[in-house]
Amino acid sequence: MTRPLAAIVMAAGKGTRMKSDTPKVLHAIAGEPLLGHVLYTLSRLGPARQFVIVGHGAEQVEAMLPADVTPVLQAEQLGTGHAVDQVTPFLNDFDGTVLILSGDVPLLSARTLETLLARHREEKATLTLLTAVLEDPTGYGRVVRKGAHVARIVEHKDADEDERRLNEVNMGTYVCEWAPLRAALAALTPNNAQGEYYLTDAIARLVSEGHPVSSYITTDPTECLGINTRGELAKLTAEYNRRTAAHWMVEGVTIHNPDTTVIGPRVQIGRDTILEPGTILLGETIVGERCIIGAYSQLRDATLGSEVEVLNSYLVDSSVGDRTHVGPYAHLRGHARLGDDVRLGNFVEVKNSTLGDGSKAAHLAYLGDATVGKKVNIGCGVITVNYDGEKKSPTIIEDGAFVGSNASLIAPLTVHAGGFVAAGSTITEDVPADSLAIGRARQVNKPEWVLKRRGARKQ
Ligand code: UD1
Ligand code: CA
Repeated sequence: MTRPLAAIVMAAGKGTRMKSDTPKVLHAIAGEPLLGHVLYTLSRLGPARQFVIVGHGAEQVEAMLPADVTPVLQAEQLGTGHAVDQVTPFLNDFDGTVLILSGDVPLLSARTLETLLARHREEKATLTLLTAVLEDPTGYGRVVRKGAHVARIVEHKDADEDERRLNEVNMGTYVCEWAPLRAALAALTPNNAQGEYYLTDAIARLVSEGHPVSSYITTDPTECLGINTRGELAKLTAEYNRRTAAHWMVEGVTIHNPDTTVIGPRVQIGRDTILEPGTILLGETIVGERCIIGAYSQLRDATLGSEVEVLNSYLVDSSVGDRTHVGPYAHLRGHARLGDDVRLGNFVEVKNSTLGDGSKAAHLAYLGDATVGKKVNIGCGVITVNYDGEKKSPTIIEDGAFVGSNASLIAPLTVHAGGFVAAGSTITEDVPADSLAIGRARQVNKPEWVLKRRGARKQ
């Protein structure tokens, strides 16, 4: 039987070298904060309990945490050992294993963590750490071994010349049995170059007490890298984009230019979908099969059916049915919902509105707070006038209605089924079913008016 698992993510540090007012772990890759990447990966391992150590910008960091993650305040950042120790009151009678991670290591994969956990369990270790062999180990804690066994970690700043030549480094990711770790943390002292309580010192202590300490040398050091500077953020962003594109191409998605395509970690894409250059898919976007997402479109928290075509458009918090066409230059937001076989053309904005199956708004329209039925035609330049300066009102356009070009529908009102609104109308009252509504001044023609005016000017 496996022992219960708790996870601790360290995220209290300032990230001084980012030179930012935003806490480091809230800087984003593919629309997701660095800490969000870590928590998403963690969620796939399903730990029983999850803690995030917060300090710098604690309020902002806490605000983005999912409900099943407990923030733990480290008011003063006295080191990584001190950070983990803050969880002690929450794990008083916890008899299990803890996974310790950093909030600024966004590319670390669930697979690597699973391998680390498996190694820990197989070897019945008290602590297992993730290490990597780096060409340039500068700045990292070095792994000092005695024979094949880990003896201790020495921080770069505390290392002597010989130790600095060691190129196996501590990646700052650990699996550990909680009870012995807790005892070792309580005994830490800050006698080192940085005057901090080092989590890494707990390792030497466990070794000296005869606990089995194991390690897993990663085959993919890049995914274990942390972010300390804007340069590293850009580098890992490029790496993230490359890896994500490669993943989706393996899954059967065509990506014309991986370098300019951004796909968030929570996005889902069906096979035989084509992503054209500059496509950005963020948040909880779900794209069905055989879709074409056209150049320079951005989708955030959007759900698309199958065989949908989106060209050069912006979709936020919205859904689109099968075979529907959107764009170019359309904007869906505020819970817009398009049915199947809808055609939405250029410069159409849809906000908090529904369009039923087979309806069309082909050019230059605004639909806000509207419920549009099936097979409705919304002409060019139609506007639902939903805002009177104080409140928003709904417009209902029932099945089979036809709204002529450049009509304004002053909400609240209903165009009943089959109703027909004449082009250029300003409609202020309900339109009965199958009726024609004309709300515009009657045209007057004045014969030879132009000639008469010209004659008058000459005199
Ligand atoms: C740490 C390790 C080092 C390892 C490196 C890997 C220690 C002493 N050293 O060094 O061996 O090679 O990570 O990247 O652990 N944090 C807190 N509270 C604190 C201090 C840090 O929450 O009081 C958080 C930071 O926000 C960060 C993580 O802990 O997410 C690591 O801290 P950092 O100061 O970057 O440690 P390193 O010096 O990089
Ligand atoms: Ca670091």
